[in-house]
Amino acid sequence: MAYHVYMETFGCQMNEYDTELVRSLLKTNGFQMTQDSEEAHVVLLNTCAIRENAHNRVYGHLGKFKVAKQERGLVIGVLGCMAQNLKKELQETRPFIDVLVGPDGYRQLPVLLTRALEQHEKGQAVELSEYETYEQIVPDRVPGVHGWIAVMRGCDNFCTFCVVPYTRGRERSREPQGIVREAQDLADRGYKQITLLGQNVNSYQADGWGFARLIKVVADVPGIERVRFMSPHPKDFPPALLEAIADHPHICRQIHLPLQSGNDRMLEMMGRTYTRREYLELVDVIRQHGTIALSTDVICGFCSETQEEYLETYRLLEEVAFQSTFVFKYSERKQTIASRKYPDDVSDVVKSERVMQLIELQKKISIRKNQQKIGRTVQVLVEGHARKFPDQWMGHAEDNTTVVWEKNGHMTQPGDLVSVLVHDVSAGTLFGHMAPVL
Ligand code: SAH
Ligand code: SF4
Ligand code: F3S
Repeated sequence: MAYHVYMETFGCQMNEYDTELVRSLLKTNGFQMTQDSEEAHVVLLNTCAIRENAHNRVYGHLGKFKVAKQERGLVIGVLGCMAQNLKKELQETRPFIDVLVGPDGYRQLPVLLTRALEQHEKGQAVELSEYETYEQIVPDRVPGVHGWIAVMRGCDNFCTFCVVPYTRGRERSREPQGIVREAQDLADRGYKQITLLGQNVNSYQADGWGFARLIKVVADVPGIERVRFMSPHPKDFPPALLEAIADHPHICRQIHLPLQSGNDRMLEMMGRTYTRREYLELVDVIRQHGTIALSTDVICGFCSETQEEYLETYRLLEEVAFQSTFVFKYSERKQTIASRKYPDDVSDVVKSERVMQLIELQKKISIRKNQQKIGRTVQVLVEGHARKFPDQWMGHAEDNTTVVWEKNGHMTQPGDLVSVLVHDVSAGTLFGHMAPVL
């Protein structure tokens, strides 16, 4: 009988992609995946370490499975960024964990699980690799219209606040041929949209290919309607990439451009390698290429951030008017340069206040920007039924805003590209109806 594996994923899209790799590795080694944790022999958590609340969520779930293990002898595995970064702490404080596997160790997982199941042996694979890119492993994807492809792994930027270089190791790019083959395979199986993934996706470099060439070749694959990418770093936006985004009909005119702070002293301390002015100049250059939607990430309350310095971030968000902004409270991470060099001295109350204010500001900006779309038609890739309203479809516009519209008996299917006339908006969603075909 095959062992049944239940798996939960936390964290970023890279982790979602890694879960697809893990599923593939397990299935080809005779394991069977299950959606029901009650009937599983193995529970795997693919974890995230980016902020304290990511840890806490994982600890909560581990507690739940510890009880199940006592009742019926489950094998528990912790994978991903926490397994890599907190291996000692996890071993010491959660001795019921059987298997620990970091992001570069997944090929060893089937053997480690078999030993845990059959010989009750604990095991771990937490070595980082300079080469592992899981070439030749075909991810076991979630059916749908949208697939991810990791084009590079790891990160060499060492932004001082960030744990990723320690959890995912050195930056390495995959061979372009394997990536293009994966894109063709997605198209053959009916997927319409691809997101190219990497911690610094636009620093991609392999076989003399840069990111601009790679994204154009992927966007040329017949059957692929839309290509996006996550996350780029502002340091690598050569003209060829901007031209590709502006001109290629299948590359979405949308860029997520993480800012982190609008103040130069903070940016310098964070090791981001650009100034406020350079960031704003890049935004200008991007906007000279026509309408390209911008979104960003910012951190509030980084070490010694003053009120005036925080207000520079506030004013930058006002000035640029992003389509959306992800706002995070600074969370000190073990091992990082900031944790060794700078005290985490902004109080939690002040951090939370700043976060709330930026979220409020962004909400107003998003509503204002969305209101400009009322009465206009947007192109939407149909993804499925709206979660709350089964009589409505849901999809995303090219700028990545969520769109919801009445089904109204049209012959629409997931994977179609349709025109939706917008008649109402919120900060995050456009509501409309299918525009008549002229
Ligand atoms: N490689 C991506 C970042 C991935 S992490 C990039 O450079 O864009 C996603 C976001 O989490 C970051 O952009 C940052 O805003 C936030 N983040 C990372 N480390 C953090 C920390 N220690 N505390 C709070 N937010 C953090
Ligand atoms: Fe972290 Fe910076 Fe690398 Fe992004 S670029 S993963 S923020 S170190
Ligand atoms: Fe989290 Fe690791 Fe992704 S720390 S954000 S799962 S790279």
